[in-house]
Amino acid sequence: MSDRLKKIYLLPIATAGLFASYFLVDLAVNKFSERNSAPSTQSVSKEDLLAPYLENLRMPQDKPLSNIHLPLANLGQQLFFDVRFSKNEQISCATCHSPEKSFTDGKSKSAGIAQTDKNAPTLIFVAQQKWFFHNGRADSLAAQALGPIENDKEHGFNRVRVAKIVDKYYRLNFEQIFGALPPVEGIQDIYEGQGIPSQKEPIQVSEAVGAFALATLGDKTQLKSLLAKAQRERTQPAHLLMAQFGLAVQGQTEFDRLSPPVQDSINQIFAWFGLAIAEFEKTIVTEASPFDQFATNFLQSRQLSQSMGRQFGMRELSGFELFATKAQCFQCHHGPLFSDQQFHNIGLPQLENSTLDLGRSVGLILSKKNVFNCKSSYFQHVPSKILIPIFEQITQSETCKESEFLDENESDFVGAFKTPTLRNLPDTAPYFHDGRATDLLQVLDFYDQPEAFEPSVGHRAPLIKNLNLSDSEKADLVAFLKSIRGQPRWGVDELNQ
Ligand code: HEC
Ligand code: HEC
Repeated sequence: MSDRLKKIYLLPIATAGLFASYFLVDLAVNKFSERNSAPSTQSVSKEDLLAPYLENLRMPQDKPLSNIHLPLANLGQQLFFDVRFSKNEQISCATCHSPEKSFTDGKSKSAGIAQTDKNAPTLIFVAQQKWFFHNGRADSLAAQALGPIENDKEHGFNRVRVAKIVDKYYRLNFEQIFGALPPVEGIQDIYEGQGIPSQKEPIQVSEAVGAFALATLGDKTQLKSLLAKAQRERTQPAHLLMAQFGLAVQGQTEFDRLSPPVQDSINQIFAWFGLAIAEFEKTIVTEASPFDQFATNFLQSRQLSQSMGRQFGMRELSGFELFATKAQCFQCHHGPLFSDQQFHNIGLPQLENSTLDLGRSVGLILSKKNVFNCKSSYFQHVPSKILIPIFEQITQSETCKESEFLDENESDFVGAFKTPTLRNLPDTAPYFHDGRATDLLQVLDFYDQPEAFEPSVGHRAPLIKNLNLSDSEKADLVAFLKSIRGQPRWGVDELNQ
């Protein structure tokens, strides 16, 4: 590959400030340049061409149970499936993340206490991710787990009630791991009686309100001029929006009215609750998929023909070649999860009757404002020595360091969503953050002709261009994507066997 070409491939990624993916792709591309600049360019074999891609996509290698605190994971497993942590005692995490569907719900948009506006992502290998939620508004798995609990449409619950249920049913389990629980009796009356109190905490208020603002704004020209202004003035569009609707002021909630020490105790129990669920989520993995088996065989034998099998044949192989080269999918969908763990605006059009979503530009603000983010005091105080590595995974994470220098005013973040994993797609339909694509062919129809649509907001990543694939090329790509499905495995007992 010439230097000029290399620049064209790398430029969009570099300008998006995506250092990690820049590095990886640069690595892969450099390997090709070395080979391609060798005297006999013609003789580059398909084997040599594909090897670095296969190397990069190898499935996560760690033994699933190494570095997992087993009692904590066991506790988290119980919490994950416990419907008592919901307003109507019918909703658990598994309602929308069902093990039978690779931890999704099969719905285009999830429903708990009420209908949400987002598609539930798979939790396969979720502990290997960096940012959580489609817009990355949580910087750790533990922080993520607390979101759905207090979301009106999901569990419809609140942290005070969580603390009380923990106190009632899980006190021993918690105390064996974290030591004595802070007392929670004194707060009994505040939250009992008239159903769910207005338990909204700041992060939810601003999010709900932001969504409301966007819905109210409706008019796209108005929004566009606002975004242009934000770019000119280098301010965060979401801030401008919120200011425009007088949203900076947050109402006092019932939780705010509790005394600070009581708030602290409740928050501490809530943070530990999240930590336990996160530990359980580390057990959610898969066995090797047909693609992984092919990759392993190939990386040993270096022979394509010898590496293919019944479930990974010619169709899948040519789909993979397209994925890696002509169709450019690898540029964002790389690494063990087929995700660069970055955020891109692929330019999906606005759907009727849907609110505009600014994606990452709001997600980053929310993660920085979250009281349970990686800087939170609730993850600084480690209650016992044995838990140090678990807390440090949050406070010392790459994500935590990265969040310090990420710029909320980055215009590429407007309308950008996290690159999702492509593992186990046959189990996780429908697709995209709002579940708009019912099957993989629909996804590919979009990637084939993205320029036919105007992005709902912001500007489309330069990498997303019309591909003009033939029907048979699309079919090959679909066959390849389906081959990245491995049997899910999860839970301490199951993995111990
Ligand atoms: C009502 C359905 C519903 C319930 C209940 C629910 N989730 Fe989710 N989950 C979703 C949806 C929808 C998203 C994406 C939301 C978004 O990004 O805005 C999500 C996102 C996630 C993510 C982020 C994954 C990623 O790739 O970024 C994790 C992890 C997760 N949920 C775990 C949990 C846990 C743990 C619980 C229980 C405490 C839970 N969920 C309860 C629907 C649900
Ligand atoms: C510029 C980076 C980028 C490129 C290039 C790219 N994708 Fe994506 N992909 C994304 C992002 C970001 C999303 C999430 C979009 C959303 O939910 O709104 C996504 C979503 C998907 C999904 C939906 C997965 C799910 O669980 O919802 C599939 C499937 C997919 N891409 C496959 C492909 C294929 C095949 C190609 C090549 C033709 C490709 N992608 C090229 C970034 C990219």
